[in-house]
Amino acid sequence: MPIINRAAGMKEEITAWRRDFHENPEILYEVQRTAGIVAEKLRAFGCDDVVTGIGRTGVVAVIKGRDTGSGKVIGLRADMDALPMQETTGLPYASKIKGMMHACGHDGHTAMLLGAAKYLTETRNFDGTAIVIFQPAEEGGAGGQAMVQDGLMDRFGVQEVYGLHNSPGLPVGHFSLRPGPMLAAADRVDIRITGHGAHAARPHLSIDPVAVGCQLYTALQTIVSRNVDPLKNAVVSITMFQAGEASNVIPETGRLQGTVRTLDAKVRDHIEARMHQIVDGIAAAHGAKIVLNYERGYPITRNHADQTAFAAKVARDVSGPGAVDDAAPPVMGGEDFSYMLEARPGAFIFMGVGDTAGLHNPAYDFNDEAIPAGVSFWARLVETAMPAR
Ligand code: NI
Repeated sequence: MPIINRAAGMKEEITAWRRDFHENPEILYEVQRTAGIVAEKLRAFGCDDVVTGIGRTGVVAVIKGRDTGSGKVIGLRADMDALPMQETTGLPYASKIKGMMHACGHDGHTAMLLGAAKYLTETRNFDGTAIVIFQPAEEGGAGGQAMVQDGLMDRFGVQEVYGLHNSPGLPVGHFSLRPGPMLAAADRVDIRITGHGAHAARPHLSIDPVAVGCQLYTALQTIVSRNVDPLKNAVVSITMFQAGEASNVIPETGRLQGTVRTLDAKVRDHIEARMHQIVDGIAAAHGAKIVLNYERGYPITRNHADQTAFAAKVARDVSGPGAVDDAAPPVMGGEDFSYMLEARPGAFIFMGVGDTAGLHNPAYDFNDEAIPAGVSFWARLVETAMPAR
């Protein structure tokens, strides 16, 4: 069962929705325009219920099949938010909002799930209930967690939940996923060093936060190289080091920031513990004060085995067996769909958009050629999971 004809037939219409979202990006929870359009369209399609304001600005719609006797309820999730960055595509439908752009393709995700909702309300060729979930604040605001905390799963009786993300570099219509850890836990690290400032010519009177920071930076590199099992995966990236303002002054303070990415809860705990040990040890060695704030971010996005195998089967039905990699390597990026997978079994799947600029790149634009495959995947997932009798 390849691309659904009706899905292909809606491509122009869905592309127009997508480009409108692209032109009018909104960030974090401030997705009022986007959520408003999503809710309006879902009502116009004839969804059985449309609820706004779940997780502040999230939208959820209920689509009942021709029959609901199976009692099955499946959730499909898209994210609606853009990023606080300046677009450089120069496209006719480029962002009209300065400093905001859809650089992660959430405009495409939202438009494709809307397309699937339109198809499912037209056809209702399934026995059960589909819940379409449009979330705010995927990019750093934990909108997925906000929706779960707002009762998303219980209120709508969601039994399984699926998420889809576009993937530049993977051919259009190809899919990739894996059971188990699919994306990493993403934690944030902030380290503040307080030493003692002095004249640069009198270093013996200082506690130099630059020297302390350099040692700290180097020592933190040994966590992955010396403390983590080489057969496990982890990233420790120190991405910011600030100290001093003049060539003849030893500054008083310094600051480092960075990120830690892990695919295993024990590795995550171990890295956090080692960071504290290293910070305390280097502080003691130099007589400096160092405060480490280790902030846990999105959890590991962990695909459930049965639902992953099922999503892979659906993807093969849509795009052919050669187009689906169901043992793809994990990705060290983070995703707040992880909160939904902690609440219910499900799977997160990547869909190829071909040779576009990378995600979060100012030249990125979602490839509309992938729309029929994405819409077909969603529609077929519902029809296969809850077959009409
Ligand atoms: Ni994204």
